[in-house]
Amino acid sequence: MKVIVRHDKEEAEKVVADLIAGEVRTNPEIVMSLPTGSTPVGVFSELTRMHEEEGLDFSSVTCFNMDEYVGLGRDHAQSYYRFLRENLYERVGMSLENTFSPDACAANLGRAADDYSSLIKRAGGFDLTFLGIGRDGHISFNMPSDALHPLTHVERLSEAAVRDNARFFEDVSEVPTQAITIGMRNILESRRIVLLALGEAKAPVIARWLGSGLVTTWLPASFLWLHPDVTVVLDQGAASELR
Ligand code: PGA
Repeated sequence: MKVIVRHDKEEAEKVVADLIAGEVRTNPEIVMSLPTGSTPVGVFSELTRMHEEEGLDFSSVTCFNMDEYVGLGRDHAQSYYRFLRENLYERVGMSLENTFSPDACAANLGRAADDYSSLIKRAGGFDLTFLGIGRDGHISFNMPSDALHPLTHVERLSEAAVRDNARFFEDVSEVPTQAITIGMRNILESRRIVLLALGEAKAPVIARWLGSGLVTTWLPASFLWLHPDVTVVLDQGAASELR
C-alpha cells in the first residue's frame, strides 16, 4: 500500500485529482466508482478545472455511484446521485447515460442491489475506485460488523454514520437509516483504488488502520491490505496520529 501525506487539504486533493486525471488520459473509456460526502468535493473541483482549462475529456468515461440512501430518488436534494451529478458529471461534460446509481426507491431493494452488481459486472468491473473513509472505518457504506457483504446490498447505517451525515439535513430524523452500497468484492475487484482522508477527525481511524497490518470486519477499510494497488492520500490532519 502506498501512503502519501501532504501538508494541507488542497495539496492532498491535488494528488488524488492528478491520479484520476492520469487514469482518464490513459484510458478515456475508464469505468470509475465514486464516493460522495465532504471528502471528494475539492477533488471534483480540481477535475472540473482540468476539464475547463486543460481539456480533460470525460465524454467516454463511465461512473458508478458507490452508494445511495434508501428512499431518496435521483432528484432529491440529498440524494447521492444528485450530489455527483451537480459536483462532477454536469461540470465535466459527462454523458449522463454513462452514469449509474442503485435504484434506492425500488419496491424490491434486494433485487435492485443484485441488478446493480450485474450492471457493474457487465461494465467489466471498476478500473478505478475512489474512496473516502468513515470515522468508524467504513468504506462505501460497508459498516463495521461481524460479517461483510461481498456484493451490492442494503445496509443499515450505524448511529454514528447517521449522526455524521446529519449535517446535510435539516434534522437528524430526516437522515435515511439505510443505504444500498456496493460490497467488499465490488471494491476489491477494482483494478486500482485510491482513498483520500482529510482532517483530524479521521486521524484516529487512520492510525488504527495503518498502524496495524491486520484485516478485520470491524474495520472494513482494513480489507484494502488484500489489494495489490491501493494509494492512500492523507493531509497532515488525517496523518497526525500516525507514528
Ligand atoms: P465524509 O464521509 O467524506 O463526509 O467524511 C466519508 C465516509 O463516510 O465515507
